[in-house]
Amino acid sequence: MSGPNKTPAAPPAVIVIFGAAGDLTKRKLIPGLFNMASEELLSSQFAMVGMDRVDMDSDAYRKTLSEEIKSYVGDGFKQDLWDKIVSKAYYMPGDFRNEESYQKLKTLVLKVDQEQGTPGNCLFYLATPPSFFGVIATELGKAGLAKEVDGQWRRIIIEKPFGRDLESAKELNKTLHQSFEEHQIYRIDHYLGKETVQNMMAYRFANGTVEPVWNHRYIDNVQITVAESLGVEDRASYYEEAGALRDMIANHLLAVLSVATMEPPNSFEADAIRDEQVKVLKAIQPFDSERVLTDTVRGQYGEGVLENGEHLHAYRDEPGIADDSSTETFVALKLMIDTWRWAGVPFYLRTGKRMTGRYSEVVIQYKGGPNMMFQRARERRKDFETNRLVLRIQPNEGISMEFNAKVPGTELNITQVRMDFDYDDYFDESITSSGYETLIYDCLCGNATLFKRADNIEVCWELLQPILDVWKAQPPSNFPNYPACSSGPEEADEMLARDGYKWKKSQ
Ligand code: BG6
Repeated sequence: MSGPNKTPAAPPAVIVIFGAAGDLTKRKLIPGLFNMASEELLSSQFAMVGMDRVDMDSDAYRKTLSEEIKSYVGDGFKQDLWDKIVSKAYYMPGDFRNEESYQKLKTLVLKVDQEQGTPGNCLFYLATPPSFFGVIATELGKAGLAKEVDGQWRRIIIEKPFGRDLESAKELNKTLHQSFEEHQIYRIDHYLGKETVQNMMAYRFANGTVEPVWNHRYIDNVQITVAESLGVEDRASYYEEAGALRDMIANHLLAVLSVATMEPPNSFEADAIRDEQVKVLKAIQPFDSERVLTDTVRGQYGEGVLENGEHLHAYRDEPGIADDSSTETFVALKLMIDTWRWAGVPFYLRTGKRMTGRYSEVVIQYKGGPNMMFQRARERRKDFETNRLVLRIQPNEGISMEFNAKVPGTELNITQVRMDFDYDDYFDESITSSGYETLIYDCLCGNATLFKRADNIEVCWELLQPILDVWKAQPPSNFPNYPACSSGPEEADEMLARDGYKWKKSQ
């Protein structure tokens, strides 16, 4: 997605948001639509219909949105543009489980369609708690809203988490397929919409020097970290049920892993790319109970103190969290991928809430060279480093290469230096997009490349199911096991230390 290079606006459509009064809508979707409009990526024949349980009319809804939007859009806010967008927002109170609500919705969508001149195209966005995904899809089907007739398209975006284990994910896929065909279903993972994640494909496949050394012969190990400084915030009821494995690993981290490790696709067609991602995910060595004990770590944050002295609550003391909660707020995993390219290369994944900082990155640690001629230098500097490539997903988006250089002077001293590519230095556009803009735009255009197919979702759950089973059978006895504002539990460091490694600190 981009503005200055004149990407055409998306086709006209009505976007129906279920969960229109919820957190995701106000934090990500409405700001996302605003950013799209700001870059002229929304058609002038566009409208938004919100449905939720809160009782209010369209005017009250517009007012609520207007009160909140500025704080989520920040400096890019433009009042006149917002006035235009919000005039195209409609709202109806409705019960997601009640058939009648869908008849009312049908009437409203038809009215809006005529008023705004959207030619019958409709995108349903399910920004609701996951327990409603199946029922909303079924009711849309029953109301005849899922049918594509006379060239009008109907698409459905399903938020995460997609199921809570393998069985429920399969069940949900089955339910969706009863009302929608696979080509109409867009399973969203906003990490795939992030510029820097998409750029990993460009970096790998648009450069002749990268792919030849992107394999087990040259790469020693890979670390993927998604660290968050925030705690659970006001999402207790969701998070208590989910935990970090379901909330982050099952989707975002495995998505990033698949982009970093997939084979080059034959084309940029959606299925060519998605086939390669599923292939590599299928090749991850399955966990048995023993490996769950050695190659996974879970953690929960306790109290902590910020640098400025501010006291942070323990997870169990956050509002809405059980005093004896065993929900994990941190996970670290070691994965091995059984392919020709990745044989023997360990992949370490970790994510956690209330870690020291907020950063997401992929660290490619290369193997060392023979370095015989530097023996004298090595004697002086025992920790002679090997090359390291860091793909910075966020913040400070960019790529760094760390390599060795001679320290100026008469002696042969070697030290590690860093070469940085920062987005800010090369592109006028700063990365304000959260990923949602790209994904909504792509869905409106019918491009499913960055969305997950049913098989991708199921393969991820197949991998994680043994972990869920063992963790459930053996509740943690040591929670909380890391202080808020730290790099996570010691066990995560020990897991790497056993292999002779350390987690890389953020830059
Ligand atoms: C969401 C998770 O999918 O991703 C949140 O539910 C998490 O718990 C968020 O905070 C992180 O996204 P981002 O784009 O801020 O890294």
